Amino acid sequence: MGKTSVLLVGFLFSFLVAMVQAGDKYKKYNDPSLPINKRIGDLMRRMSLDEKIGQMVQIDRKVATPEVMRDYKIGSILSGGGSVPHLQATPQEWLNMVNGFQNGSLSTRLGIPMIYGIDAVHGHNNVYKATIFPHNIGLGATRDPELVKRIGSATAREVRATGINYVFAPCIAVCRDPRWGRCFESYSEDPDIVKEMTEIINGLQGEIPKNSRKGVPYVGGREKVVACAKHFVGDGGTTRGINENNTVIDKHGLLSIHMPGYNAAVIKGVGTVMVSYSSWNGVKMHANHDLVTNFLKGSLRFRGFVISDWQAIDRMTYPVHANYTYSVLTSIQAGLDMIMVPYNYTEFIDTLTGLVKNKFIPMSRIDDAVRRILRVKFQLGLFENPLSDESFIDQLGHQAHRDLAREAVRKSLVLLKNGENADEPMLPLPKKSSKILVAGSHADDLGNQCGGWTINWQGGSGNNLTSGTTILKGIAEAVDPSTEIVYEENPEFDYVKSNNFSYGIVVVGEPPYAETNGDNLNLTIPLQGQYTLYNVCANIKCVVVLISGRPLVIMPHLEQVDALVAAWLPGTEGQGVADVLFGDYGFSGKLPRTWFKTAEQLPMNVGDLNYDPLYPFGYGLTTQPLNATS
Ligand code: GLC
Repeated sequence: MGKTSVLLVGFLFSFLVAMVQAGDKYKKYNDPSLPINKRIGDLMRRMSLDEKIGQMVQIDRKVATPEVMRDYKIGSILSGGGSVPHLQATPQEWLNMVNGFQNGSLSTRLGIPMIYGIDAVHGHNNVYKATIFPHNIGLGATRDPELVKRIGSATAREVRATGINYVFAPCIAVCRDPRWGRCFESYSEDPDIVKEMTEIINGLQGEIPKNSRKGVPYVGGREKVVACAKHFVGDGGTTRGINENNTVIDKHGLLSIHMPGYNAAVIKGVGTVMVSYSSWNGVKMHANHDLVTNFLKGSLRFRGFVISDWQAIDRMTYPVHANYTYSVLTSIQAGLDMIMVPYNYTEFIDTLTGLVKNKFIPMSRIDDAVRRILRVKFQLGLFENPLSDESFIDQLGHQAHRDLAREAVRKSLVLLKNGENADEPMLPLPKKSSKILVAGSHADDLGNQCGGWTINWQGGSGNNLTSGTTILKGIAEAVDPSTEIVYEENPEFDYVKSNNFSYGIVVVGEPPYAETNGDNLNLTIPLQGQYTLYNVCANIKCVVVLISGRPLVIMPHLEQVDALVAAWLPGTEGQGVADVLFGDYGFSGKLPRTWFKTAEQLPMNVGDLNYDPLYPFGYGLTTQPLNATS
């Protein structure tokens, strides 16, 4: 056969292959009129091992390109904490970035769209100018699941504004020891409150239809996102609150304290569950087949996908000194479906491929993982609308969301002390006074009042992180114009003494932190805050507003303090604090966790035998709004 004929045959063959491939994209799995299970079955039959394993891989955007998405058939991308296109990137820039990666995925043989995940754990917190809501501990203090559901809806819209469709929230940890650096991510020490607050899933994903089968993931509409219940299971029960460590508790305790939130989340159709770095009685959760497969996927009938935590496979040490191959083997066999790699994806792909080809991992396990991943993607409507548009671009930081966040701040405040006796309450404060001193490291610092997981993974102090209203600004806007506000971050004793202030508002607390960086065995107010508190409160009547991710040691200062407010980590809408301090709204918050006397008492939770708190779980004084009709 002459050279020309060979070329012609080659061209015709390539043309035919291209037609078949193109035809693939218009086959059953792309037909939205078909039941999702039919579409999954059709697509699975077409997929090669490479394409299946690719779906199980999640990489960080830092190592993603359209070409990597195409060539490795990667199923998902994430933004780890602080992983942004660039500082102060706009929604349009986020959206363009996500669509750019998506086009890489759509150019694969089967055109399976990728899903993009991000930690939107108190609003869309990685993104400049997003509304930052109170962290979960403050939401637990509100005892208001309907409010939390509205926060979920608002967060979903802000996430969609940036073209993203998947969030690693809610954290439904039941923090049992405030020495744990992630305690602020937990709604409460009480499993019933955590269970109630899974209502946020209905906000994030949409309300699951009443007749839905238990465990099937549900996402209702383009203004909704896929949620993630985390970290499965028992992360909040680690010994002495040591992060990523060992939770020692019997099965009854695990199921009655740490599991109820997951059952509630599964009933609400949560799309994904993230496994905890921690261990249960010495067994790494990422290697725990009985809990991940038999219990979560079996008993609870969870039908979404199970995702690992960040580099969790690399961090597995069970059994001691296990190698990477063994970690991949045990985690996939345990029931993990998608692996948040997030960087060494070629090593992961090669390792898993080898384990399957050498029959260490059966194809049925891979098929179960891919089926679950595809189920979530089909339910999300990703095949019909893989590219994000600008429909929600105006939702980021929307005033309506900021108003909602301000409402949440108000309802999250817990009044622990109000004057020396009920007959002489200090709060609400008069709006008309001659001169008020506002002091403390957290009074005029947006980053401090937002806490960790804000713009950066660890958050950060200062007022240039993002936009919002500091507590000081809220106070200045709340008082009568004739009232003089003097702000001194760290006033000296004699300064306070020598100025005739009507009273002082001291706003102090913890610096921002996240995860292990927040592990803390003594839980005292940082020294500068203690000095400021003393310098002010030893001289004039004072209300202390504590900004913290958990209860702190306050007993030594209590006598000097006339009024004490736990404000937790309120987020960008600091006006909510002034709203209640000055009586536009009453105090209603209740402690979501026990307030200890000393850290030596810990762990100490409601229901314990030797329960001897300073303020018990559920404690909170109330005040009436000034304009309340009697
Ligand atoms: C982190 C956290 C997890 C988060 C994930 C992605 O290490 O443990 O809560 O969702 O990595 O940022």
